[in-house]
Amino acid sequence: METVALDLIEQAKSTPSSEGNLGDLEDEECFFQDIALLLEHGVSIEDVRRLQDAGINTIKGVQMVIPKKMLEIEGLDVKKIEKIKEACTKLSFVNGFTTALDVDQRNQIFKLSTGSKKFDKLLYGGIESMAITEVFGEAGCGKTQLSHTLCVTAQMSGPNGYMGGKVIFIDTERTFRTDRLRSIAERFHLDGNTVLENILCARAYTSDHQYDLLKSVTGMLHKEAGVFKLLIVDSIIAHFRVDYYGRKEMAHRQHKLGQLMACLQKISEEYNIAVFITNQITSDLTNLEQGDAQRPVGGNILAHASTCRISLHKDVNERRMAKVYDSPYLASNEVLFTITNGGIDDVD
Ligand SMILES: Nc1ncnc2c1ncn2[C@@H]1O[C@H](COP(=O)(O)OP(=O)(O)O)[C@@H](O)[C@H]1O
Ligand SMILES: [Mg+2]
Repeated sequence: METVALDLIEQAKSTPSSEGNLGDLEDEECFFQDIALLLEHGVSIEDVRRLQDAGINTIKGVQMVIPKKMLEIEGLDVKKIEKIKEACTKLSFVNGFTTALDVDQRNQIFKLSTGSKKFDKLLYGGIESMAITEVFGEAGCGKTQLSHTLCVTAQMSGPNGYMGGKVIFIDTERTFRTDRLRSIAERFHLDGNTVLENILCARAYTSDHQYDLLKSVTGMLHKEAGVFKLLIVDSIIAHFRVDYYGRKEMAHRQHKLGQLMACLQKISEEYNIAVFITNQITSDLTNLEQGDAQRPVGGNILAHASTCRISLHKDVNERRMAKVYDSPYLASNEVLFTITNGGIDDVD
């Protein structure tokens, strides 16, 4: 085998690099299986490179892409794809199945605190990894403040051995504020500069740019395996509402939004990341009688892709409420919370 290929296999088997050294990475090592391991199963180095160029860096990543999509990668054909898929099956559990007890014991899901104990309780512990949590609500209800609070709490250790990690923040509404992060860090007695250093932020200028940024995120997550724990997109929808207009463009918009959500889903599961997105609302004139005249935008695409949907609301007395809107495992309760200089907090 060529030296380059041997080097790649060696790299794939060695510890993933980590500059920040946040937390114990041992568990993360078994979470990722580098795509270069395919070289040991007869897949050519050129084809491994083709997969990497398409943003597929792990064995799980291959399994999450359907053959039809893989055919779109230049240089791959049906025969090669079959070989790649077969190799991945050999490298993962037998036929991809495992006992529920194993699943339970390998469970590496962690939860990030919202900053409010009651809010965390509503979420059975907080914002979960390997899932997409969506919050929506009218302007000023606290979506961005919650995003900022999570940027800080994600860096702190938590229950079940969670050691904290770095954050990626994609800002689409120009509301990312370092001074808010400093105030929140101060509340938790953390050094402001260190907190800011552990957050990678990018401004997305269009919906297409937002998607391109996510593709680079995949590369970053792979390079620094286990270091990043939280990915925020605040908001997921703003550019889509501007870039696509009217009924005619709706199908196209939803298709693009679907692609973006699929990418987020893949990121959350492949790299055990908590994905947190914010969403806007629109008036629902069909629902006026039930007194619920506001619904999240993004239609079925967002509804199906988000694992857990939370609505935030500010009433006339400035009381803020968080309510579980849709979740596969949370009861549909609601809690009061407040926003302080130190971020999201409990009401006294
Ligand atoms: N330093 C602060 N202290 C207390 N409340 C704040 C502070 N900064 C912002 N807020 C509150 O947060 C609200 C804005 O919330 P934000 O999360 O930006 O809304 P959105 O849901 O539109 O993203 C403001 O109306 C204000 O009441
Ligand atoms: Mg906002």
